[in-house]
Amino acid sequence: MNNHGKVSLTSVNYSNARPITTSPLMVQDLSLRDGHQSLFATRGRTEDMLPIAEMMDDIGFWAIETWGGATFDTMHRFLNEDPWERIRTLKKYIKKTPFSMLLRGQNLVGYRNYADDLARVFVERSAENGIDVFRTFDALNDYRNFDTVVPAIKACGKHFQGCVCYTLTEPRLGGEVYNLKYYLNKAKELVALDADSICIKDMAGLLAPYDAYQLVTALKENVSVPIHLHSHCTSGMAAITQLKAIEAGVDIIDTCLSPYAGRTSHPPVEPVVMMLLGTNRDTGFDVKKLVEINDILEKQVLPKYRHLLSDAKVSITDINVLLHQTPGGMLSNLVGQLRDMDELDKLDKVYSELPRVRKDLGQVPLVTPTSQIVGVQTVNNVLFDKPDEHYSKITDQVKDLCYGLYGKTTKPINVDVLKKALKNYPRGEEPITCRPAEILEPELEKAKEEIKDITDNIDDVLTYALYPTTGKKFLKWKYGKERPPAEVMPKTLEQAKKEEELVAQARKGEAFLRPKKDVPPKGPGLKTFNVFVDGEYFEVGVEPVRGKSAALSTKRSYIQDSGAKLNAPRKTQAGITSQILAPMPGMIIRYEKNVGDKVTSGENVVILEAMKMENAIQATADGTISSVNFTSGDSVKKDDVLCIIENEKH
Ligand code: CO
Repeated sequence: MNNHGKVSLTSVNYSNARPITTSPLMVQDLSLRDGHQSLFATRGRTEDMLPIAEMMDDIGFWAIETWGGATFDTMHRFLNEDPWERIRTLKKYIKKTPFSMLLRGQNLVGYRNYADDLARVFVERSAENGIDVFRTFDALNDYRNFDTVVPAIKACGKHFQGCVCYTLTEPRLGGEVYNLKYYLNKAKELVALDADSICIKDMAGLLAPYDAYQLVTALKENVSVPIHLHSHCTSGMAAITQLKAIEAGVDIIDTCLSPYAGRTSHPPVEPVVMMLLGTNRDTGFDVKKLVEINDILEKQVLPKYRHLLSDAKVSITDINVLLHQTPGGMLSNLVGQLRDMDELDKLDKVYSELPRVRKDLGQVPLVTPTSQIVGVQTVNNVLFDKPDEHYSKITDQVKDLCYGLYGKTTKPINVDVLKKALKNYPRGEEPITCRPAEILEPELEKAKEEIKDITDNIDDVLTYALYPTTGKKFLKWKYGKERPPAEVMPKTLEQAKKEEELVAQARKGEAFLRPKKDVPPKGPGLKTFNVFVDGEYFEVGVEPVRGKSAALSTKRSYIQDSGAKLNAPRKTQAGITSQILAPMPGMIIRYEKNVGDKVTSGENVVILEAMKMENAIQATADGTISSVNFTSGDSVKKDDVLCIIENEKH
């Protein structure tokens, strides 16, 4: 017990006696951003945050993270919600607690570096709409990418929290690249940029408890601004890591309300409150109030999201991350991508290729967007490389990374990969060394001009500038120019309950489910249809009882019915044709060629976005484009025919 009658966490006799934080631990809540981003693919809707918003405001959080990261993308793309409106709405209910957002430095809330004019206005509008704390990171820890946003944050009078992305090349802190010295230097760089606080951003949950103790101790000795720890439960260490960081004097930690905690998310707040009760670092939170909030979430909100919880595995701790250091989000992306392509059996190959690709690309930290860049390139190498050719399909983003468009990689990029990536690269074959945004043309005025027929609202313009394809689609829904599809509409609690009842019935009622006959094996003629009846949706498989499948007049049917090798030229009445097939599922960004255009084999024809990365799809033969089957914004499956090339007649 110390003088104040509280148990002191620093009474433990550690070898180095030194001044240590003894003030109450501050806590930021992440439920409304990283919490549902980690557990429910960022699908949380604003209407489901409102029932608990005022109660959360009363807890005493240092800040509540409400925006940024993937929220901006997911909201306009999948939820038909205006991202800007979320901050304004929540602000009506949460009046005392500051709002924080996760800002990806010059990448803002997207996946590439945007021009300075856009970055400046984005920060101003975020502040104006209600963001108080700008947690800012750069995927390469290259703080030249803060040069534009930080002065803008400061000019708005807001809190600039600088992040160091925590990553490893060894199982634990240390080695040649990511050692204590690296992190101390990064923290000092942030102090030089006038950071109001520093965040250790441990996005994959790799920070081990004793490393956290060492790191926080060193940071507290070397920098004077508050230290904030952000860690994920993925590997199972985060809660213990938090305790060691608290003992070392960390000022602020990140937690979630327990329904949004655990798995790939963050440690729950309630145990932290209890753990520190009566100590010199007591949070002062009322655990009963937290229980009340959780009760509302469990009964009124979470049933609508349960189906999004990945229940493929019983374990909620992912030990793979300790071996592969693959952040949770990236892992589910990789698995999803391979599953969509029917190549899930290659997952082990992807795991072993991933560290090699990362090393080739300069040992970059793995966090958005570098996690996607490294992840997609790894999948491409595993799927498309031939015995005599490595990196046979290099994504545009890897080319940009090699050129220096994301910034400076921690280690130099493999020279052979660099040369191959930059061959015929439109900006030049010699990489840049300056701050990336210096070579970017202003983009805001152009965006205003392009979207002026729909809107001149500046927040809308930013939505469009950041996400030209999906942003435009959303703005058309917003202004009633197009009807939003059913899948972007919210699910009601009644619908969720009905679904759960059906599942429960199915679990108990074997008799109800027992088929009258033995189920025959699915044959090659099986076709799957989406059937919509009075708002109900069914997926139905149809196969003729005997004989060949009937020809079906769907967009895809003619390729499926053709027994020929899909890519092979086919003889039709019109002449010899070649098809360009989607090599992977994704979304059409744009066609670079139109019907009637002449193309030569290898020329870029379509830009396809898969896993947020853009891939140029090339012509498979010389000839003239005779058919373009999709349009910008369309989703395509693997092997969909993107367009047809009519070869020269012989
Ligand atoms: Co996170």
